[in-house]
Amino acid sequence: MANSTAAPADASHDGNRRDFLFLATGAGLAVGVGAVAWPFVSSMAPDAEVIAAGAPIEVDLSPIQDGQIVNVFWRGKLIFVRKLTAKEVGDMRAVPLPEMIDPAAFGTRVKDGHDQWLVVYGNCTHLGCVPIGHQGNFEGWACPCHGSQFDAVGRVRHGPAPINLPIPPYAFQSDTKIRIGEPAGGKGEA
Ligand code: FES
Repeated sequence: MANSTAAPADASHDGNRRDFLFLATGAGLAVGVGAVAWPFVSSMAPDAEVIAAGAPIEVDLSPIQDGQIVNVFWRGKLIFVRKLTAKEVGDMRAVPLPEMIDPAAFGTRVKDGHDQWLVVYGNCTHLGCVPIGHQGNFEGWACPCHGSQFDAVGRVRHGPAPINLPIPPYAFQSDTKIRIGEPAGGKGEA
């Protein structure tokens, strides 16, 4: 079993919507919920063999509450896993495509039958900074570096970022578990 830790990733919003750091490894998710400082992050990264192999990681979704964003790492890359609220799902479905910089319908951002779950890479598509969750004007993220804003399903809505936050390969293993790194058509894939 892997090491585990968790830390608020954004203290700027209320406790019910805190972001947590979750750490996952190839064997399964190691989740903790508590107050662990960011400096622990680098020392808790997946081991080199896991990264080198690019092994899939499993993420247990069951502890994640509506509106929460958790951070996981796969192949050394930061990934946001977000549980959308019902309001966010409705709002994101209703956004007209012409209003977007990189138009993408809601259905292309989530898996069929799993509208509440968003999984995206966690680095800004401008120059790679880490956007801050629950910031900005679009219920999503705001990048602290040059002001890009992303909506609740990671679509860029205000530049200079040119494209949406990319979606890594992943598949649902069950309603409460995803596997990141699962090739398309893998178990549980729609
Ligand atoms: S790196 Fe995010 S706006 Fe420039």
